[in-house]
Parts: sequence; C-alpha cells; structure tokens
Amino acid sequence: MRKKIVAGNWKMNKTLQEGVALATELKNTLAAEKPNCEVIIGTPFIHLATVSELLKDSVIAVSAENCANKESGAYTGEVSAAMVKSTGAEYVILGHSERREYYNETPEILKEKVDLALANGLKVIFCIGETEQERDNNQQEAVCKAELQGSVFHLTAEQWKNIVIAYEPIWAIGTGKTATAEQAEEIHAYIRKCVAEVYGAQAADDTTILYGGSCKASNAPELFGKPDIDGGLIGGASLKAPDFKGIIDAWK
Ligand code: 13P
Repeated sequence: MRKKIVAGNWKMNKTLQEGVALATELKNTLAAEKPNCEVIIGTPFIHLATVSELLKDSVIAVSAENCANKESGAYTGEVSAAMVKSTGAEYVILGHSERREYYNETPEILKEKVDLALANGLKVIFCIGETEQERDNNQQEAVCKAELQGSVFHLTAEQWKNIVIAYEPIWAIGTGKTATAEQAEEIHAYIRKCVAEVYGAQAADDTTILYGGSCKASNAPELFGKPDIDGGLIGGASLKAPDFKGIIDAWK
C-alpha cells in the first residue's frame, strides 16, 4: 500500500524564529491528535538543522527545498545533498516549477540533483506540471512525461522506491485556481501509467503521487478522495498550523 503524504513547502518564507515557532505548533498539534498520513515540512536550508532536531521524536519529517547539482567544492553559496542529509532532513523537493523558471534548472541539472540526493540517502519529492498555455493546448500529458523522462526515469527500480512525485500545474500555484479533482485525477492516473511503463505495475501502484497548487482544507477532501491522488504538496496553506492541519485532516 502506497504512502499518503501531506507535505508543506514553505518556499522563501519565515525567519528562523518564525519557522521554529510554526514547527513547534505543528508538533504539538499532531502529538495531541495523530495524523492518518505521513507529514513532511519543507523548509529553507538555514532552518533544517534546528527544525530537524526539534522534530526528532515527532511524526513530522523534514525536507529541504533544493540541493546542489555538485557534490562539493568551490561552488559559493550552494548547499550539497550531503549537507542537507547531515542536518537530519529526510527529503528534498526537486524540480519545482519556481526553480525551473527563475533559476534556470534544466532537466539535465535536475537529473544530477536527483542522483546526488539519492546517493546521499535523501528521498526526493520530484515536481512536474504544465503551464496554463500548455494546458490550453492539451499538452499536459506530454509535458509531464517529458519531465519524468528528463530527470527521473533513468533511475533503477531500487532507487525509484525513494521517489515521490508531485503534480503541480503551474497555473494553479499560488493563484487560488485549483485543478478540479477530475482534472487532477486524470493526469495522476496518466502519470501512474507512465511509471508502470518503466517500472512495472506494482512499482506504479506503490508510488505516491501528490497534488500541489492552491490546495487548502476546503478542497483537499475532494482531491484526496480520488484514487490516484495520494496527498498534497502545500505552499501558502502550509504557513499556518491550523490551515495545514486542516489539510492533514482530509485523510481522516
Ligand atoms: P500553493 O499551495 O501556494 O499554490 O503552492 C503550491 C506549491 O508550489 C507547493 O510546492
């Protein structure tokens, strides 16, 4: 049975003190009421060590939002997968459309990052998804498949077990415009079919595929109710504990 996950992506929000306060609030909330899914929070690099330590004995796992495509050395300002791992973080989000668009992360660069993340014992939440124009041209399946082929379908079956896919239609990110549960289910089922073609039916069935894009407590139950939607990757609504908890509760 594949894992159900609700993951937060804080993006470039929260000072260290604010992040610690939010992680503490979440920890206390979920200690009082055990979640029915795996819960992950993706924080900026500088929060990772403190938040990982804080959440050590909790049900919440910690993720980075990026890592370098180089192992180590003279790459000023970069943070390696080994450094992320050494903080206690278990996951790294890679392939987010904001990284692809604003930081020119190509499929080749992302492939290097994925390989290094896995080699250093991190699990990867790999994001894919089409622009509004691509959706208008009905290219969403081709775009998603190409993004998978470009950066993760070279992995071995053993490595694949450490991959979580996040389908995030770019037109739904931070826009308040959510994909309908039917639209999301259709492409999630397609993504699972693509995984099956490469790794077989069982591996595809075991793969967690998250939906991301203006997901909130009000629409999460309908989205998560679909057979191929295994949870969410949450931006805005992960920045306040009650909002995030509301989404986690969709698995109740
Ligand atoms: P929002 O939930 O703010 O739309 O962001 C989604 C996202 O990009 C998560 O990675």
